[in-house]
Amino acid sequence: MIPSLINGELSIIGRLVDASNATLLCELTTGDDQPFKVIYKPGAGERPLWDFPEGNLAGREVAAFQLSEDLGLSVIPETVLREGPFGIGSVQRWIEIDESIDLSTLASSTSPEIRDIAFLDILLNNTDRKFGHLLPLEDGRILGCDHGLTFHTEDKLRTVLWQFANEPITPQEEKSLRTLGETLDPERYIGLISEEEFAAFLMRAERLLSTGLFPMPSEDWPAVPWPPF
Ligand SMILES: Nc1ncnc2c1ncn2[C@@H]1O[C@H](COP(=O)(O)OP(=O)(O)O)[C@@H](O)[C@H]1O
Ligand SMILES: [Mg+2]
Repeated sequence: MIPSLINGELSIIGRLVDASNATLLCELTTGDDQPFKVIYKPGAGERPLWDFPEGNLAGREVAAFQLSEDLGLSVIPETVLREGPFGIGSVQRWIEIDESIDLSTLASSTSPEIRDIAFLDILLNNTDRKFGHLLPLEDGRILGCDHGLTFHTEDKLRTVLWQFANEPITPQEEKSLRTLGETLDPERYIGLISEEEFAAFLMRAERLLSTGLFPMPSEDWPAVPWPPF
């Protein structure tokens, strides 16, 4: 059974040097399991960003995890909102990646695993899909991390994964969008993101269904993050 990240005590082991906010590596000790590593991003550590509402990137991390689950993709490590040593923040299970895989090569792949992440990013309106936000596992699965810059009301898709642009969505992708429309519970999202952001997300899902195509890179804003790592 997967232990829940909600319970147990968080102790800080380190701060990630290449991280942009206060992103802390912690150990989570629950009574029942061996301690395991998690990433803790306290809301209080968020650096103000000119184009994102302040102090709620942690909620977006959790909403992104929920959407990955609600779509049946499971491409984001388990993520919850909870108290920690610096107050409420997102807590995400740490994933041991396969260090032998070159992330920029991986990012240019057209494999179904990478496609699932690109598909999710359209709905998340992810504005920060860099190489380093791909987590390849040794068993071949690929997960994603760093979903704080998502769910903006304005279109801001910025990613290194444009290889599916203008491709038709598959019948399976269409089916998962339709199922999502029937089963989605707004109450699980509103609060983590605003009502306006939730409405904008629904519109993006409807647009993806009606065009039936992966979007093209925009000419109105930088469509690839810089630096891409
Ligand atoms: N759950 C995770 N499992 C494994 N590595 C992670 C995880 N979350 C983040 N990382 C690694 O830590 C780096 C920094 O984390 P990130 O979420 O990108 O922080 P920031 O929001 O500060 O940019 C990522 O690029 C990735 O290499
Ligand atoms: Mg990052």
